[in-house]
Amino acid sequence: MDRVTVSSLKEMKEAGHKIAMITAYDYPSALFAEEAGAEVLLVGDSLGMVVLGYDSTVPVTMEEMLHHVKAVVRGSKRSMVVADMPFMSYQVNYTDALYNAGRFLKEGGAQAVKLEGGSEIAELVAKLVTAGIPVMGHIGLTPQSVNALGGYKVQGKDLKTAQKLLDDAKALADAGAFAIVLECVPAALAAKITESIPIPTIGIGSGVNCDGQVLVYHDILGMYPRMLPKFVKRYADLSSLIKEAIRQYVQEVKEQQFPEEKHSFTMAPEILERIY
Ligand code: KIV
Repeated sequence: MDRVTVSSLKEMKEAGHKIAMITAYDYPSALFAEEAGAEVLLVGDSLGMVVLGYDSTVPVTMEEMLHHVKAVVRGSKRSMVVADMPFMSYQVNYTDALYNAGRFLKEGGAQAVKLEGGSEIAELVAKLVTAGIPVMGHIGLTPQSVNALGGYKVQGKDLKTAQKLLDDAKALADAGAFAIVLECVPAALAAKITESIPIPTIGIGSGVNCDGQVLVYHDILGMYPRMLPKFVKRYADLSSLIKEAIRQYVQEVKEQQFPEEKHSFTMAPEILERIY
């Protein structure tokens, strides 16, 4: 079956079919998410926090992202794989931005990249799109700017910032972005943005009226104990299951209940007798 493309996502918006996007960071998460029906796998720089244990997404490097993008691509056949451009891989100059974005497609095998920012990056988005690199935008709460934003907070609640978010979404759509993540935007504003632009919006903490939704793999599965944002719905508590399974294994090792005979290999006793 063919991979999901930028055109298929646009058709989904036009037909009113919701888009399911989820983060994936390795071969098994890609396999599971695709088999479960997600159209888009985002190799988010959230991997810095949920997989690599950093305090924020700021320290994540190109090499770390590429390593994980390749694994996700190996684990998927049909979903679109979007690679998140890490902090400072696109802000310094256009040459570096084009080179780094190109690496995700050429070396990583991703189908698109995602960049945080609004009108201020519209010119860059246009250059990437002209170079043949599909771009997903990301506005509202942009975690790479957590230090500038003063924390992980809802964005666009007053007139000035709400208008700026709508202008940013239009600027990104005009620049050729194929979709935009709206993170932590009031639901009514996200709905207005969604009906004002021709490309799909993918919400996270932005209400039900976006064209699609995205959540972090580890958050919905209960595998990231350090924080649980209000907008996350936890569909499973895998930390408890994993810890319980490992606890049983440790106990069985200590009590010599594991391995059992069925987990062991046999050999002819006469061979054993002949070695010294
Ligand atoms: O890095 C990430 O996982 C993201 C999503 C939360 C949208 O950017």
